[in-house]
Amino acid sequence: MEITVIGTGYVGLVTAVGFAELGHRVLGVDRDAAKVRRLQAGDPVIYEPGLAEKLVAQQGAGRLHFTTEIAAGVRHAPILFICVGTPSLPDGSADLSQMEAVVRQIAAALDGYRLVVEKSTVPVRTSSWVHRTLRLYTRPGIEFEVASNPEFLREGRAVHDFFHPDRIVLGVPSQRAGDLLGEVYAPFHCPKVITDPNTAEIIKHACNSFLALKISYINLIAELCERTQADVHTVAQAMGLDQRIGPEFLEAGLGYGGACLPKDVQAFIHIGEEHGLDFSLLKEADAINRRRVDGILQKLKRALWILEDKEIAVLGLAFKANTDDVRGSQGLAVARALLDSGARVRLWDPHAAARAQELLSPSERVAYTDSIWGALEGAHAAVIATPWEELRALDLARVAATMLTPIVVDGRNLLDTEAVRAAGLEYHPVGRPSVAFA
Ligand code: UDX
Repeated sequence: MEITVIGTGYVGLVTAVGFAELGHRVLGVDRDAAKVRRLQAGDPVIYEPGLAEKLVAQQGAGRLHFTTEIAAGVRHAPILFICVGTPSLPDGSADLSQMEAVVRQIAAALDGYRLVVEKSTVPVRTSSWVHRTLRLYTRPGIEFEVASNPEFLREGRAVHDFFHPDRIVLGVPSQRAGDLLGEVYAPFHCPKVITDPNTAEIIKHACNSFLALKISYINLIAELCERTQADVHTVAQAMGLDQRIGPEFLEAGLGYGGACLPKDVQAFIHIGEEHGLDFSLLKEADAINRRRVDGILQKLKRALWILEDKEIAVLGLAFKANTDDVRGSQGLAVARALLDSGARVRLWDPHAAARAQELLSPSERVAYTDSIWGALEGAHAAVIATPWEELRALDLARVAATMLTPIVVDGRNLLDTEAVRAAGLEYHPVGRPSVAFA
């Protein structure tokens, strides 16, 4: 069937390419003309494993096109997916201005029935606002409906996640809307949760907030392990073997970053408060997450005594592996905290350095290096901030030989304690016993 996807960021582009591969004829719309030109030329603009090949293949098959014109998107399809950004406002609530602008443009172009589907993460009751906006700005007598179909794609695995969903959530106002969305997702045989739009909107925020709770919980346990010489890795392993808990999202470390979890926790707290509920459970998860960077700084101070004028390598700037996204990057947060303490930083990332430079410019105290070894050369300490495979596979003897003082603070618990000891490194993981300098 014909589908329009409005907004070609991480979610929209993967969704558009995925729908095309399912056999639908997809038109992607984005207001950024330069981006649309690159997409039309087969350049996905973002780094997401497997995406570039599929983009080019679907364009070659004639099933995927891009435009800047929302009106063209409205003409193209009976179903329009909105995938625009919903960033945080200073008070933590979601900024829905991009959403509203898109909806007004859709309204102006409507010439007959369309199903407008929110895929962006939005506060509960947004579908009612979208409906009201369409009603206000559309010519009388024109039919439309609004549905919620939240995405659960993880960056770095988004293409895989698109084709292997745990479940698909369809928040629909009518049988007609349910049938249309059912047709879009007909090739999938996973559980489909069919519900009303408000429930679907809450499902998305409830999931991301629960994941954040899980991460903050294990990080709190890690803090206790550090004070008691216990090992959080083994605690998490044993917890995960309990099927009621499950092993995922129990990795202690620098905490959660990215464009979704931090923002969605804030937004959900705000939504709870708006409805007269005390969501301090989530406030605590957020507070634990915020002190992760300080925990790394404390470890560096304990190892180096004085940070002023020290050279510190920060290895990994993407908020997680297999992405070039630096929104909510813990690596950049560590770098900024080090700069505030008077240190100099040497930054390395295999995919995210260019985007990082837009947020933290190179300077006399900020150097970006193309190789891990360039970052480690002459460094007083190194911080592992992103779990890149390259870091897991490091030649540790060479690390020890390259650094000025061989001190590694492992914010992602990537390295093997015995291998670190054998290489003669001083090593400070998270929630696990340190290895002293031999
Ligand atoms: C998240 C949700 O997982 C996804 O379903 C939703 O659609 C979008 O938001 P994403 O932001 O891509 O996806 O990242 P995710 O894999 O959830 O990781 C978030 C952060 O938590 C990362 O910084 C990661 O390093 C961190 N994390 C994850 C931990 O610190 N410990 C863990 O055990 C798992």
